[in-house]
Amino acid sequence: MTTVTDTAHSEVGHASTVGDELAYVDLLSLVRETNRCPGGKRTIRRIATRLGIGPHTRVLEIGSNTGFTSMELAKITGCTAVGIDVNAAAVAEANRKRSQLPQRIADRLSFSVGDACAIPFGDAEFDVIVCGGANTFVQDRATALSEYLRVLRPYGFVSVTNLYYRKAPDEQLLTDLRDVLGFDVPPYGLQDWLKVLAPAEWELYDLETTDLVARPDKVVEAYADALCSSDRLPQVSESDRLRVRNRWHEVMSIFNRNHAHLGFMELTLRRPMPGDEEQPELFLTAGSWDPYFEKAFVQGN
Ligand SMILES: C[S@@+](CC[C@H](N)C(=O)[O-])C[C@H]1O[C@@H](n2cnc3c(N)ncnc32)[C@H](O)[C@@H]1O
Repeated sequence: MTTVTDTAHSEVGHASTVGDELAYVDLLSLVRETNRCPGGKRTIRRIATRLGIGPHTRVLEIGSNTGFTSMELAKITGCTAVGIDVNAAAVAEANRKRSQLPQRIADRLSFSVGDACAIPFGDAEFDVIVCGGANTFVQDRATALSEYLRVLRPYGFVSVTNLYYRKAPDEQLLTDLRDVLGFDVPPYGLQDWLKVLAPAEWELYDLETTDLVARPDKVVEAYADALCSSDRLPQVSESDRLRVRNRWHEVMSIFNRNHAHLGFMELTLRRPMPGDEEQPELFLTAGSWDPYFEKAFVQGN
C-alpha cells in the first residue's frame, strides 16, 4: 500500500503513511475528492450570506485542502480567496482544479502551503477567515486563533465549521480515527470546543448547530465505487486502484460510524476593538443562542 502514490500519482507528490496505510489527507488528494466542510455547498452558501461576502471581500481559508470551499465562495460571490494548507499534495490538487476554472474565477483564487500557526500574510489583510474542519487538525489552536486575530481587519469575521460530539464515542472508534488521521481526535462536546474556539479576546457573534446522521453501508460502498472508478482514476493501475478503493471504503466507513455521534457547529466570531462594550439583549428567538450569555458562560463568568 505504501507505494501506491509514489508510482501512480507523482503529480500530487509523495504520500506519507500512517502505519502501513496511506494517510487520509494524502489519500483524498489521490482520489481527488472535493473535500468539503460538513453540510457542503449548503453550509458554504450560508457562510457567504451570513458574513455578507461579496466581490470586494478578501477571504482567507485555513486548511483549504483541495480548494472546494474557496472555489465555491469565489463562484457564488465573486470574492477574492486565498487558501493555505500544510499539506503540499492538497495544495497541488487545489491549484490543478483552479487551473480548470474560467479565467475570471481562477484569477480571484490562490492556494499555497502555509500553517495556521504562522500565517504567511501581514496584519489586517483579510475581511473574513473561513475555517472548515481544520481546527480539529491544528494541534496548537491557541496560536492559530491569535494568528486569525492578527491577519483579520478590525470587525472582520471568522467562520468556523467544526464537528463536535453530541454522543460520547467509544474507545474503539477513537482508536480507529487516530489510526486513519494520525492524531488523537479530542472527544469534545460543543461546550468543550467553544472554550477552545471562542476565547475571551473574540466576540462570539453567532452560533448554529446541526446534527449529522450515518448513511447505510450500501451508500458508503457506492460512494467509494464512484470516487475510485477507473474513469476517475485512469492514472492508477488496476491493482492499485482496487487497493485505493478498499482503503477509501475502510476510511469512509470509520467516518460514517463517527457521524452517528456527531453534530457540527457554524460558529461566527468577530474581531472586536479595545473598549467595545457588549450588552445583553432581552429578545431571544426560540431555539437560537444568545452570544452575550454564551460568551459569559464559555468564559465561566
Ligand atoms: C478536514 S480538512 C478541511 C477541508 C476543508 N477546508 C473544509 O472545508 O472542511 C483539514 C485540513 O487542514 C489541514 N491542516 C492541518 N493542520 C494545519 C495547519 N496547522 N495549518 C493549515 N492547515 C492545516 C490538513 O492538511 C487538511 O487539509
